Amino acid sequence: MRIFVAGATGAVGTVLVPELRKSGIEVTPHVRPATAAKHPMGKDPEALICDLGDIGKLHPAMARCDGVACLVGTMRSRFRNGDTYESSDYLPVVELVEAATRDAKNARHFVLLSAMGARPGGGYLGWKFKAEEAVRGSGLPWTVVRPSFFDTRGTRSAPSHGEGRVPPPVVGGALRALGAIPALRGMSYDLRPIPVDVLARAIRRVFQEGQPTSATLTGRVLWPLAR
Ligand SMILES: NC(=O)c1ccc[n+]([C@@H]2O[C@H](COP(=O)([O-])OP(=O)(O)OC[C@H]3O[C@@H](n4cnc5c(N)ncnc54)[C@H](OP(=O)(O)O)[C@@H]3O)[C@@H](O)[C@H]2O)c1
Repeated sequence: MRIFVAGATGAVGTVLVPELRKSGIEVTPHVRPATAAKHPMGKDPEALICDLGDIGKLHPAMARCDGVACLVGTMRSRFRNGDTYESSDYLPVVELVEAATRDAKNARHFVLLSAMGARPGGGYLGWKFKAEEAVRGSGLPWTVVRPSFFDTRGTRSAPSHGEGRVPPPVVGGALRALGAIPALRGMSYDLRPIPVDVLARAIRRVFQEGQPTSATLTGRVLWPLAR
């Protein structure tokens, strides 16, 4: 199995790529040209270095892949570099869906990393929802993942922007405590910060098992999947 990983230079991508390889899954990590020179993933022999709009390069690379992990996105603090929610959280998803559906191998499993609270409307969560809709309408087997806050502490996450993801301290403790009440356990798992290595293991399992599909997964499913 070979998975195309978009967002391979991000906080989650830099953990997911080795996690997949460790379990014998081949990976084509996608790297943007401007990032390739400054991030080790740019030297990965399997990396596809191009913009996702470069269909001359994207389509042949996708033709070799059996699935897509789309981890792309941006933050308001990176808008000064030219990214926007539309250009980073939505358009790449459309480009990847188009690439994944254009040949005969149209059963590629598309796993989209979205965010808790994605919903119709504007702003970050609105663009995330639009991206989800593009995947749900693709005709591909799909899985949308909606985690809570990320935590990179104690992991080998090495994103191109150099910023670790550290949730506010009080959030994790309070939400874990809620999990002691059986009726609130699911909600506690949905809301508590998720270490990026736990998330990467859950995504790896989804690819290995080819399921669940047509499913939107939150923490209550992701944590047990990662075991
Ligand atoms: N932070 C959280 O707590 C949290 C919680 C839930 C969900 N999420 C979502 O999870 C996803 C991954 O998060 P993360 O923390 O790993 O993100 P990240 O560290 O900011 O990495 C984002 C990745 O997307 C790539 N990218 C951005 N714009 C792109 C474009 N136009 N074309 C191609 N690649 C592009 C970046 O490439 P460069 O290295 O070239 O910039 C990088 O590889 C994001 O969609 C985020 O919205 C985040």
